[in-house]
Parts: sequence; C-alpha cells; structure tokens
Amino acid sequence: MLNTHILDAIERMSGIDCYLKTPAFLNLKVLEASKRLNLDFEVFKEKIETETLSEVELLQLIDCVTVPRTQMFRNRRLMEYIEKLLSKESEHQPLKVWSAACSSGEEAYSISFLSRSVGARSCDIWASDMSELRIQKALSKDLTSLKNDTPQGFYYCVGNVDESNFVEMKGDVSFFSHNLRKDVPEPYHNFFDVVICQNCLCYYRPDAKEEIIKNLLGSLRSPESVLIVSSTDLHGTNIDSKQIVRI
Ligand SMILES: C[S@@+](CC[C@H](N)C(=O)[O-])C[C@H]1O[C@@H](n2cnc3c(N)ncnc32)[C@H](O)[C@@H]1O
Repeated sequence: MLNTHILDAIERMSGIDCYLKTPAFLNLKVLEASKRLNLDFEVFKEKIETETLSEVELLQLIDCVTVPRTQMFRNRRLMEYIEKLLSKESEHQPLKVWSAACSSGEEAYSISFLSRSVGARSCDIWASDMSELRIQKALSKDLTSLKNDTPQGFYYCVGNVDESNFVEMKGDVSFFSHNLRKDVPEPYHNFFDVVICQNCLCYYRPDAKEEIIKNLLGSLRSPESVLIVSSTDLHGTNIDSKQIVRI
C-alpha cells in the first residue's frame, strides 16, 4: 500500500489532492501507471517518493489517477447556457469556445451539435486534455455512435443535423494536448469568448486550482468573456472574478 510520503510526493508533483481518494483506489491507479510504463511497481513507487519521475511518467500517473468519465450533453444547464449564447443573432463574430480538460471530446462535440442545429451565431470550438490517449480517442470518435448516447432532452440537436454532415463535423473541433497547470499556449492568450472547465478542478488542491483558474482567465478575450466551472470548484480558493460562471 502507498505510504503518506508517496501520497505527499504525488500531491507536490501533480497538485492532485490524493487525500480525496481511498488508499486502495490510489494503490490500484499507481500500479496501473507502472504497468503502462513497463516499470516495476516498487521501482515506480521509489521514483515517486524521491520525486524523480520524468515528465512522461508523471503524465501517465496523473492520467491514471484522474477519471476520464464524460458524456454527451452531460450538464444540461451548461448546454442551455451555450445555446443562449449561440442564439444571439446580433453577433457577427463566431463564438470561440474552449472545452478545457475535454477527455474524449463529448463536451466539445455536444457544442458542435448545438451550434449546427440551433446556432444563429457560428461557433469555433477548441478542446484540450492533458492526456494524449484521450485526445486520440476524441479524434477517432464515430459521431454516429454519439447519437445513441444523447439524452432524450437534447435529441433535437442531433436529430436536426443531417447524418451526411457527421464526418465533416469532426472538423468543427480543433483538439490539442495541454496540461492546465502549464501556461496557456501563446496563441490562446486573450482569445476565447467561453472557456469551459468542468469536472476537472475537483481533483486539485486549492492552490493548484487557483493556478489553473488564473491561467484560464488569461485566455479570455474580453471583459464579457466567461470561464465556466462546476458549481463547487471554487471551494477552498480565494478566487473571485465576475468572469467566472458556476454551473
Ligand atoms: C472527468 S473528465 C471531465 C471531462 C469533461 N470536461 C466533462 O465534464 O465531461 C476529467 C478530465 O480532466 C483531465 N485533466 C485532469 N487534470 C488535467 C490537467 N492538469 N490538464 C488537463 N487536463 C486534465 C483528465 O485527463 C480527464 O480527461
């Protein structure tokens, strides 16, 4: 089992709050990461404890400890919020949206469906995750199959889009890999109208959350632009900004 030195080391290196998880869960996840890396479990634990993990090893560890769960139209209130923004006909510029920590892309693809079925305003979508593996999964998604995962209340979005557009729709989202604990890539400074970071900050300690939120706020284009987080994400932080919307 993992001792507290190891848990503390994971926290220091990744910012992930290990004490939110059960020791058995973490043990399993560290074992999974060591297997993926073809490293002996004891050797891997020692590397964690001595904080000598390479960047690749640390990413694999974080990839295993965080959960990829996502779903089409997962958060109804979020989708309704985006739908409102997309129906503002007066706006001429496309709405620039970033789904940050997108896992396998369902959130971004949901917005693409929304935009194609109800959007009066066009929408450009970017999506990123720290995990290359999850980005690859997003890129290889068959959008026809996502149709079956769509909750009934949102079926009109998918139903309204002609199936012949599904292949073309893959191009609606630009995916890139990015660790939110690192600076936002330069081209995306002051760039987005809407940044969505849902079901990700909950893994992090308050100081790491603050760092991520500050980074994301720096990617907003104008004072009207918004960063959308989950409702309890700011707990424990001292962040206060009119541009943060909790949904
Ligand atoms: C539970 S999924 C959430 C997916 C989607 N946002 C949603 O709400 O359905 C959490 C995702 O956060 C990603 N993640 C965790 N820490 C991250 C970080 N520091 N940078 C980028 N992505 C991160 C994980 O790789 C995982 O895919």
